Amino acid sequence: MTIKFGLIGGGVMGEALLSRLIASGIYQSSEVIVSEPLPSRLDFLKQQYDVTVTTDNSQVFTQAKEVVFLAVKPQVFSALAQEVAHINIQNQELANINLLNREHSPVIISILAGVPLSQLEAAFVQLPVIRAMPNTPATVGAGITAICLGAYTSPKHHQIAQQVFSAVGEVVEVSEGLMDAVTGLSGSGPAYVALLVEALADGGVAAGLPRTIANQLALQTVLGTAKLLESTKLHPAELKDRVTSPGGTTIAGIAKLEQAGFRSALIEAVKAATERSQELGK
Ligand SMILES: NC(=O)c1ccc[n+]([C@@H]2O[C@H](COP(=O)([O-])OP(=O)(O)OC[C@H]3O[C@@H](n4cnc5c(N)ncnc54)[C@H](OP(=O)(O)O)[C@@H]3O)[C@@H](O)[C@H]2O)c1
Repeated sequence: MTIKFGLIGGGVMGEALLSRLIASGIYQSSEVIVSEPLPSRLDFLKQQYDVTVTTDNSQVFTQAKEVVFLAVKPQVFSALAQEVAHINIQNQELANINLLNREHSPVIISILAGVPLSQLEAAFVQLPVIRAMPNTPATVGAGITAICLGAYTSPKHHQIAQQVFSAVGEVVEVSEGLMDAVTGLSGSGPAYVALLVEALADGGVAAGLPRTIANQLALQTVLGTAKLLESTKLHPAELKDRVTSPGGTTIAGIAKLEQAGFRSALIEAVKAATERSQELGK
């Protein structure tokens, strides 16, 4: 069978994607090739997902017909780009001969944090490239990924990227200028929410609840509220108004949150993380 999907870097994110792409039937095991430097990791991926494995990244570039997915650490990127430069030159020659070839060229999708399209397109000259930023809940299929399209992508490449990331959650498209803001919100957001869950549980313990019950109440409250907002499409402020009775318990809690600058702290957190992402990208 034709190899359609090539994964370079079978780490945490790479495996999360791989497992769901196969489980959802988007790609068959026989249509996937994975490259990784660590033989023990390769053995594991081969055994677990029955995919073709290699330690040679250039095999992924030469074999994958639809997607080459980059999931290595950003620090490895320049070495990887050098390693595959000779293949790239072949592709560039093809692209020069016939512009239509690009439509049939595999799309290169990168999830490398902080590596801009300009660097990706300099490494993969005239090839269709998509930059993406998934977040950690992708590992349980509940992520959200922002994608931005490179100059040589076609609607077909866009559709392929949408389909690939829909295997691990929702997908939005943004212009590249907004990628740092995406990092500040949904990229760093899971840590903010984890802090919220922990603090809620601590509050419960402070109010006399046993730790395990406080943890369970806190986690399920966050999960349930997110599901409620999602399914009812209520504006968050409207949900808050609905559960806040005059002179009641909830408004007493909210008054304390406002006094402590809760909302403003979250706004500032997203802004600070966005600025840090901008700094790191320089
Ligand atoms: N985790 C997240 O929530 C998240 C969110 C958004 C974006 N990202 C991005 O996703 C990428 C991967 O993150 P991760 O958390 O999955 O990291 P990870 O678990 O360290 O995965 C990277 C994998 O790439 C392998 N690798 C290293 N050098 C390689 C090379 N030259 N050729 C092929 N494979 C190589 C590593 O193997 P060894 O272990 O043997 O070195 C490892 O298995 C990063 O660029 C990160 O910025 C991650």
